[in-house]
Amino acid sequence: MLAPLPVYHASTREIGGLFPLLVACPVPAVGARIGYDVQSGGAFYCHPVEWVLRNGLATNPNIALFGEPGRGKSSTVVAFVLRMLNFGVRTLISGDVKGEYTPVVRALGATPIELGAGNHARVNALDLGPLTARWDSWTAQRQRDELSSVLGRWVQLLAALAESQGHAPTVSDEAAIAAVLHRLVGARDGNSRLRPITIPDVHRELAHADTELWHDLRYAHRHDFLDRLRPMTDALANLISGALSGLFDAPTTVAIDWAAPVQSMDLSRLRSRGDTAVAVALTCLGAWSSLATDLRNDGEIRIVVRDELWRQLRLGPRSVAAIDAELRLSRLEQIIQILVLHKLSDLLSVGAKGSQATAIARDLIALCSTRVLFRQSTRAADELAEALALTGPEHQRLIGPVNERRGRALWKTENQPAHLVQTVLSSFEKRLFDTNAQLRPAPNGRGRYG
Ligand SMILES: Nc1ncnc2c1ncn2[C@@H]1O[C@H](COP(=O)(O)OP(=O)(O)OP(=O)(O)O)[C@@H](O)[C@H]1O
Ligand SMILES: [Mg+2]
Repeated sequence: MLAPLPVYHASTREIGGLFPLLVACPVPAVGARIGYDVQSGGAFYCHPVEWVLRNGLATNPNIALFGEPGRGKSSTVVAFVLRMLNFGVRTLISGDVKGEYTPVVRALGATPIELGAGNHARVNALDLGPLTARWDSWTAQRQRDELSSVLGRWVQLLAALAESQGHAPTVSDEAAIAAVLHRLVGARDGNSRLRPITIPDVHRELAHADTELWHDLRYAHRHDFLDRLRPMTDALANLISGALSGLFDAPTTVAIDWAAPVQSMDLSRLRSRGDTAVAVALTCLGAWSSLATDLRNDGEIRIVVRDELWRQLRLGPRSVAAIDAELRLSRLEQIIQILVLHKLSDLLSVGAKGSQATAIARDLIALCSTRVLFRQSTRAADELAEALALTGPEHQRLIGPVNERRGRALWKTENQPAHLVQTVLSSFEKRLFDTNAQLRPAPNGRGRYG
């Protein structure tokens, strides 16, 4: 005979609602423990590589976070990054615009790479990185493959940089850049040795084109080539002499410390040089760090964080194409790319409706299987709901009061229902990553302005 079940009595004052049949669709308990599932109360874990390899919950390990400012996007990234350290997963912060990650990096005993005023750190946007050292050990086929992927990224990078200077590159510009890069790097000399190149080298080749170059590119005369390529050439010249002069156009003087648990590139000193300068810096760093991350040979899983990516997207449609090229060409499954954006229209507004840029932007979302959706304005949420095919209840949870709290977001992957998750920060994490610290009055009673 069954033992009688215990009976509990309570008034509706104590129990607001009771849903005895509520079941969660739990995610596997593997990876970083982010916080709790608001509806079931169960713990929520995230390990995007495991989600791809074992659980089929996602098709790629990349994560995109969307949300209004101050909602807790970066804090959730920090929580994820720190907790993935337990699994030996290290992180590269590819451009920290506000210098927020610097205390985290320092607390872990590493030193961030600081770029900007009063600093001698240089990053060559066209750095060959580890490619040079590994070149001789590869077969001719592998050399061709690696080189074409690097050159493809560089063409997109230079096109995005030209666009930041007010010139929208044409296909002929791109063909000319590709040809110049090929000859500068020495790829046409029988794959003997790769030569290091910088943006001023590309500019010089375009500005002082020799007969072989304009002839190969099928221009009738040299002046024809110079005239057609003038806007592109001048855009590169502006870049070399502009606000970022010397920072990304000279040989690299810093190295990514792959042994550091978290390594970051602090751009906070660049902010005084203006939004475009910061966006250009993010674009250059993105290309540089992707190449370095792809070609490291330790075989370990890495996280690459691109926080404040929306700043980079303001450069124009080409910057979306550059990011797309980096994600697409990153063939290693073991890289978790994290993109932090404000709203979907950051991506979609870069091009005219129905344009190629908008199509690329949509592809970019597809390249991030896991989407973490923080609170949004109704309009921004509607856009997201449509683009990500959220169900009605998911859409309601995105805009509803249940998603009000800081650090709360709807986690949605292609192949599983959305989970409303509250990121739980430890007191140590809160202290380390207090991005509102500047807004609070100083301990001496005076406000931040004195
Ligand atoms: N889960 C959380 N629990 C408690 N506090 C949080 C949580 N998430 C964020 N915060 C606090 O909210 C503040 C803003 O967070 P955060 O900088 O992560 O926002 P953000 O979305 O990255 O903003 P922005 O778009 O401006 O970069 C921080 O001071 C942080 O400590
Ligand atoms: Mg942030």
